[in-house]
Amino acid sequence: MKRLKIETRPIAGQKPGTSGLRKKTHVFMGQHYLENYVQSIFDGIGGLGGKTLVVGGDGRYFNDRAIQVILRMAAASGAKACIVGQNGILSTPAASNLIRKRSTSGGLILSASHNPGGPEADFGLKYNTPNGGPAPEHVTDRIYAATQTIAAYHIIETGDVDLGRLGTSTLDRMTIEVVDPVADYAALMESLFDFDAIRALFASGFRMRFDAMHAVTGPYATEILEGRLGAAPGTVVHGTPSPDFGGGHPDPNPIWAKELIDVMMGKDAPDFGAASDGDGDRNMIVGRGLYVTPSDSLALLAAQAHLAPAYAGGLKGVARSMPTSGAVDRVAAKLGIACYETPTGRKFFGNLLDAGRATLCGEESAGTGSDHVREKDGLWAVLLWLNILAVTKQSVADLMADHWQTYGRNYYSRHDYEDVEADKANALMSALRDVLPDLPGREVQGLTITSADEFAYDDPVDGSRSEGQGLRIGFAGGGRAVFRLSGTGTVGATLRVYLESVETDPAKLHQDAQAALAPVIAAAEEIARIKAHTGRAAPDVIT
Ligand code: G1P
Ligand code: ZN
Repeated sequence: MKRLKIETRPIAGQKPGTSGLRKKTHVFMGQHYLENYVQSIFDGIGGLGGKTLVVGGDGRYFNDRAIQVILRMAAASGAKACIVGQNGILSTPAASNLIRKRSTSGGLILSASHNPGGPEADFGLKYNTPNGGPAPEHVTDRIYAATQTIAAYHIIETGDVDLGRLGTSTLDRMTIEVVDPVADYAALMESLFDFDAIRALFASGFRMRFDAMHAVTGPYATEILEGRLGAAPGTVVHGTPSPDFGGGHPDPNPIWAKELIDVMMGKDAPDFGAASDGDGDRNMIVGRGLYVTPSDSLALLAAQAHLAPAYAGGLKGVARSMPTSGAVDRVAAKLGIACYETPTGRKFFGNLLDAGRATLCGEESAGTGSDHVREKDGLWAVLLWLNILAVTKQSVADLMADHWQTYGRNYYSRHDYEDVEADKANALMSALRDVLPDLPGREVQGLTITSADEFAYDDPVDGSRSEGQGLRIGFAGGGRAVFRLSGTGTVGATLRVYLESVETDPAKLHQDAQAALAPVIAAAEEIARIKAHTGRAAPDVIT
C-alpha cells in the first residue's frame, strides 16, 4: 500500500452551510472536489492522528464511492480507526448515537438529507463533533478556511474495502470496524420507550403505515416496527434504500409523501401514518384523516412526553426554531418550563441540549428530537407518538382536538418560492428590511402589526451572537409572518414565507389552515410584495 500526497489547489464554493456541504452530485464527483473537502475537514479539526471516526451515509448515489475515498484518506492521515455502517449505511441519528456511544472524535455523514439523489441530483457531506451533533460555526469556519489554503491531500493507494461484511479489518495502520447500522440505534429506542405497551397496541389490531421513501430508515423501521414491536408485515413501505430514492424526493411532507397522505385520507386508512426523509432525521405524522403539522407535533409531544419512560420525570425545557409556530410555547408556559427560540438549523439546539437546558426540540421543517442524540430523529418521533397512542388509547385526531381545546390552535403554513433568481430574492429581503421600522402600529388587511424586526440570537450557553436570521412581523392576537432565504438549496434562491395565526375560540378550531390564515397570507403579500419582486403568482410548495 502506497501513501500518496497529491497536490491540489483551493476549489471555489466549498463553504459548508448549516448542514455541511451540499452540492450537485457531479460537482462532488469532479476532480479533487471530494478529496479537497475531506482533507479540509481533517485539517480544520486539527488533523486525524490517533482519532476514531464514525462514517456512514444515507445510501444515495456516490455514497459507496465516496466512503472508499474517505477511508483511504483517513488511513493516510493517521486515523486510529473508522467505525462504518455495513454497506456504508447509517442514518443521521444512528450516526449521532454511535459517535456518542463509542466516544469517537466525531463522524462524517454522507447525505443531502431530503434532497433527491442520483447523478443529476444532490450529494452532501458533513462533519459531526464528538457530542454527536453538527459542527458549530467556529468549526465549519475553520474547515472553510482550510479549503481556501489547501495545497495537497493524503490518500492511500489500494483497492476497495469490503463494507458488506461485519467485523474488523485494517487499512494500512487504521482499523476499520464494519457494524450493523441498526443494532445500537434499536437498542437506544428500546431504552427510551415502553415497547411492551406499543407491542400490545399492535397486538390489539392497531394498523400503521410507515413510508421510508426508498431512503435510509427502511431497515431501521422494518427491524423496530415489524421486528421488535410486532407491527404487521408490510407496515413499512418503500423500505429498501435506493441510490436515487426510487426517483422520488425523500422529503416527508404532504407534497412529496402524497401517496401516504392519500392512503391516510382514504376510506380504509390505517390508524397511524408516518414517513421519514433521506437520512432519517425528519418525520411526518398523519392520523386517519388528519395531517399533523410538525409544529403541532412538537407541541403535542411536549405535552405528552411524560407518558414515555425516558421522559417520565418531566422536561427540562423545550426549544424551537424561530419560524416554527408558537404552539409549543403554550405547552411550555403551562408546564412552567423554559422555551427557547433559536435560529433555523439543528446546530443551535446542540448547546441547549448539552447544557441540560432543553430536552425536546423541533423545527417546522419536520425535524423533532430530544437529548437522546444530537440530531433530530425521525423514527424517534414516530416511536414517541406510538408510545403516547398506546398509553392514551386515543386516536391521533382526538388527541389533537383535545390539545387544541386545552392550548388553542396555532394555524400554520409555509409557502416556498423555489429557484428564484438570487438578485430578486435579495431585493425583496432588503426592501422589506428597510421598511421594518415603519411597520409597527400599521393596519394591513385588517390586522394590526405589533412588532417587526430581524431575528438575531444570543446563545445563552456560549454567548455567541447570530445575526440576520430572518425578518419577522408580529400581528395583534399572536399571528406572524416570517421571511427568510433558504440556506440549503443548491440552485437559485428559495424564499420561505412562514405564516401563523392563533385561534382560541372553541368553535373555530377545525378550519382549513389556508382559509384560517387568509388574512395573514394577504398581509404578507401586501407588506413584502412577493409577486412584484419574484414575478411568481403563487408559491411552488405549500406545506
Ligand atoms: C432547511 C429547514 C431547516 C433545517 C435545514 C436542515 O433549511 O428549513 O429547518 O434545519 O433545512 O435540514 P433552509 O433550507 O430553510 O435553510
Ligand atoms: Zn434529513
